[in-house]
Amino acid sequence: MGVEKRFFSFRNCYHVMILGISGSPRAKTTEYVLREALKKLEERGFETAFFSVRGRKIGFCNHCDYCLKKKGCVIQDDMQELHPLLRDAEGIVIASPVYNGGISAQTKAVMDRTRALVASDPDVFRGKVGMAVAVGGDRAGGQELAIQQMMTFYTLNGVLTLSGGFFGANIGATFWSKDTMEGVMADEEGFRSLRKTVKRFAEFLQGRGSSASV
Ligand SMILES: Cc1cc2nc3c(=O)[nH]c(=O)nc-3n(C[C@H](O)[C@H](O)[C@H](O)COP(=O)(O)O)c2cc1C
Repeated sequence: MGVEKRFFSFRNCYHVMILGISGSPRAKTTEYVLREALKKLEERGFETAFFSVRGRKIGFCNHCDYCLKKKGCVIQDDMQELHPLLRDAEGIVIASPVYNGGISAQTKAVMDRTRALVASDPDVFRGKVGMAVAVGGDRAGGQELAIQQMMTFYTLNGVLTLSGGFFGANIGATFWSKDTMEGVMADEEGFRSLRKTVKRFAEFLQGRGSSASV
């Protein structure tokens, strides 16, 4: 639980911070694949930070418009910790379990609560790069819609979104967990979609933009 920051100072370090956000209330499949994604990014020399909604208090935006009149959010909860990380990150990886054919309510609450951040700086997300990971218990349980919701969040905030490209990761990283850790760990196609998406995301951040297959 909590925010974990890892710093690397070896050769090839790009000094670019990538923030991973897990929208699952459990330390199970979504968190596992997100940590795998961050591990791969660290191997490529990026600094990463991990944030999970698990055990956190993140209330719903109540549309009080405090943030439009004053600075910051009137709700003093764990979102306060995420705001500076979102501001500082150059890359964002949102990973959500699929709930009822879309993202989890926790993931959505995080997205809605960024309103206060955007209100204080409308360009806060501009130019950042985002990728999306969705983990569903069923093979086609709504992963694509969940990814679309994350992509829409990125798009309307000026975040450039990347998938892993053709042949395996058309819209991003999608997993079929069969509701178990064993299931997600055995999902070879899911990990291929993750590798391809991480590669393209990393290469874009490094300024190469290649989409060669993994
Ligand atoms: C409330 C709820 C709704 C769910 N709805 C779906 C669904 O619509 N489609 C699906 O594929 N899986 C669904 N699942 C299963 C989870 O997406 C799946 O078990 C996932 O691996 C959970 O991620 P976690 O291990 O990180 O918690 C649902 C689970 C819960 C708790």
